[in-house]
Amino acid sequence: MDLRPHIRDVQDFPKPGILFRDITPLLAHPEAFRAAIGKMADHYRGQNIKAIAAAEARGFIFAAPLALELNAGFVPVRKPGKLPFETQSFHYELEYGTDTLEIHTDAFAPGDKVLLVDDLLATGGTMNACAKLVERSGAIVVGCAFVIELTFLKGREKLVPYDVFSLLAYDGE
Ligand code: PRP
Ligand code: MG
Repeated sequence: MDLRPHIRDVQDFPKPGILFRDITPLLAHPEAFRAAIGKMADHYRGQNIKAIAAAEARGFIFAAPLALELNAGFVPVRKPGKLPFETQSFHYELEYGTDTLEIHTDAFAPGDKVLLVDDLLATGGTMNACAKLVERSGAIVVGCAFVIELTFLKGREKLVPYDVFSLLAYDGE
């Protein structure tokens, strides 16, 4: 199934000059949503994945059904101050300023095989932060899966140690 017709282009969002790839039509279409989860699951099936981890908010949307499909747990990676138990933080640079993501310190056991998922690969900063949080806890990053990859932003270069898999690639317009 071709997923591309289910991604909507929105010009000048969130600011002038940006072409936003909107996943909400895909989410609203059960066959397309199921196909996206199925394609990701097929790529990683049989690899004994213990957990799917994803950053809020859009990453959660794909990670939860993928976790059930692969019979793996789901681990939320969250913005600061949202997780109730002991946390580990990772600070990273943005174009303007810095950002932080957190996980629970008991989210993974050493050696656990973890698949990371997000809706979009842009600069790779978010996914790299997730990968570092997984590795710091002694777990293994099996791969980084995305629905959409904006290839012209070269996010893959920030994720060179990892297996990067995306369902749809967009090279500029
Ligand atoms: C978006 C998107 C990815 C990230 C990709 O999340 O969902 O997580 O940006 O960009 P990067 O590769 O340059 O890090 P956003 O921070 O907008 O938040 P949201 O998921 O809560 O909407
Ligand atoms: Mg996000």
